[in-house]
Parts: sequence; C-alpha cells; structure tokens
Amino acid sequence: MTMNKTLVFPAGMPQSLAYAKQAERDGRAVVGASSLHHDPAKPHYDAWAFLPYVTDPDFVTSLQGVVQAHSVTSIYTPNAVVWEMLDAALPNALPNVSLVNSHPMRELEDTYKASNDFARSLSEAEVPLFVPTGRSLPPLAKLASIYHHLEAIPGMCDHDKTRALFAIFQSAPAGDVVEIGSWWGKSAFLLAQLAQMNGTGPVLCVDPWDMKNIVQNDAGGLVDAVDVDPAGAFQIFLVNLLPYAQGRLNYLRKASVDAAPVYAASRQIESPEFDAVTYSGEISVLHIDGNHSEAAVRADVEAWCSMVKPGGWIILDDYVWPYGDGPKVVGDAYLEKRQDEIATSFVMGSALFIKLTG
Ligand SMILES: C[S@@+](CC[C@H](N)C(=O)[O-])C[C@H]1O[C@@H](n2cnc3c(N)ncnc32)[C@H](O)[C@@H]1O
Repeated sequence: MTMNKTLVFPAGMPQSLAYAKQAERDGRAVVGASSLHHDPAKPHYDAWAFLPYVTDPDFVTSLQGVVQAHSVTSIYTPNAVVWEMLDAALPNALPNVSLVNSHPMRELEDTYKASNDFARSLSEAEVPLFVPTGRSLPPLAKLASIYHHLEAIPGMCDHDKTRALFAIFQSAPAGDVVEIGSWWGKSAFLLAQLAQMNGTGPVLCVDPWDMKNIVQNDAGGLVDAVDVDPAGAFQIFLVNLLPYAQGRLNYLRKASVDAAPVYAASRQIESPEFDAVTYSGEISVLHIDGNHSEAAVRADVEAWCSMVKPGGWIILDDYVWPYGDGPKVVGDAYLEKRQDEIATSFVMGSALFIKLTG
C-alpha cells in the first residue's frame, strides 16, 4: 500500500503551519518545502526539502526530484500564484500528484460569500417571526460584516438564534443589554453589535468564569464531565471583545444573583480592561445563558427579569436542550404566570424569546 504524503509549500505561511499541525494530529505524513535556505518553519516539520522559487526555470525539475525523493503523493499550497502554477503544470510534469486544496483565493472568498448570503436572507425577511417590526435593517454590507466577525468567534450561538436576535433588536426599546453567561463572548459580541446598530444601549456581561458555577447537574452528567477552563475562557472573552467594546460594553465577574444588586445600585460599572461604562439601570434585552440547572435559571429570572423595561425582550437560551429541562421548566412557568405582561413569545434556534408589553 502506498502511503499518502503531502508536500507543504511554501511551508512557512501561517495556513501551511496550520495544515501541518492538523496533519500531525490526524497522523498524516507531510514534507515541508521552502525556497529560503534558512526557514524558521523547518523545526515544525519532520521532513524537509528545498525548492527554488516558482519563477526559477529549474522549479519543475526540482519539484520532480523532491516528489521522488520523499514519495510525495499530493501538494498543499495556500499561495494563489503557486497554486495556479502547479494546477497548470502537474498534469504533465507529475500526473500522479494532485493538489489537496482548492484555489486559495476562492476558498477565502467563499467565506465572505456565505456572510453576504446570510445578510441577504435577513433583509429578504426570511425570518417568519411574529415580531412587531420597528427599525429597518441597515445596508447588506453591515449585516454581512457582523455575521462574518461573529463566525470568527468560537462559542454557542447558532444561526437560527442569530437570525432571531437580528430581528428582535429591531423592536427593542432603548436601554441596557444584559447577558448572563458569556463564556468566550460569542453572543456578547453579537449583542454588542446589534445594540450599537439599533441604538439600544450598552452591554453588560455577567459571568463568574469560575469552576463552582459551571456544575449544572445535567441529566446523564455528560455536560459536567467536559474538561473546561473558566479562567482561560475569561481571557478568551477579553481577547474577543476588547477590539469591539469601545466604551459600550463591560462585565461583572460575579454569579448572576450577586451581580444583580450591584447593577441595580450602580449606574457606572468599571473594569481594568473596559474602563467605565454608564448604564441606565433599565434593561432592554436580557439574555439568560448561564448555568442551565432549574434552580440556577429560576434564580437568574428572579434576580433580573423585574429590571426589564416595558417592551423589552427576555431570552432564555437552551429552552430546548438535550441535557436537561431547567430553562424550559422556568420559561414555561414564566409564560404562564406573566401572560398578561407578555406581548409575544416564540422559540427559535433552541432559545425562548419573550417580549413584554410596551
Ligand atoms: C453556555 S455558556 C455561555 C455561552 C455564551 N453565551 C456563548 O455565546 O457562547 C454558560 C456560561 O454561564 C456562566 N455561568 C454559570 N453560572 C452562572 C451564574 N450563576 N451567573 C452568571 N453566569 C454563569 C458560565 O461561567 C459560562 O461562561
């Protein structure tokens, strides 16, 4: 059996190093190649070869030699010029060697096309929500930009929930946006962008980022068994949010029940990273995505929902959740008890959205 071996060239490009790392994790063999005589990328590869620049008349002959010497079966290159050159040359020069990736520029452009498609689907009113529409959506490029940056932040905010959030902010009154449970900051990023786009108000992220509050007592214990690093998550949150906060976002590193009285009593929240942000004390949008045990969600609702202003929105994330029914039990009870104060509610992307009467 012939073993597959991929030549990575030029081996020092960031995408090449990422490819080599992934190949190592997958147990696939790679050979790094470079036109630099002293390439700092060399230690990242088990096997190494020198190749002249693609403009060198000897390039193809040298490549044939490297392919033979290392038994190379395929080539990865993130460089568009090299890719096009090889795409044209390989069928004749090395008919048994193929390119493993598609055109590097098209690959990148496709991710932007996906963002534009998402933006277009939003503005074509594909979201069948029974939501009173207020403000209109901004230009497509702005929607695409928010979506594109959101996609770059890892976390737990699916596409349907994203759509619903875009929609509900159009009818959110002016006021603060509060998130309980931010982790790496994915939904916080989206809330911050939507709040800015709709002129809603500043965002406050409430999360203790500690081990004690992570325990959910989920059915089957699968969630609690996951090896997580809350302190590391806080650092990732900062890295993700700092470039976008611009005086309109801050955090309280506390459990929600401890943070509620602080928020209620202080119009200004300060942190070393985000400085001081002024809040109105009235919540326009409350996103509850903390600990999903029934007791914790009930405590979040009791501590925060009374601060949501008329016409505001309450979101209970993971109302539909495979690991337990805390958000559902608490959400259903809220819907029943407060039905006279609720203008509309719906479930989308596993979250429950509730709009209070104005
Ligand atoms: C599901 S994650 C949040 C995901 C995040 N919203 C996102 O978009 O990726 C849950 C977060 O809730 C936080 N948390 C747990 N108990 C909490 C509590 N009592 N108050 C506030 N946050 C809490 C955890 O530290 C964790 O960061």
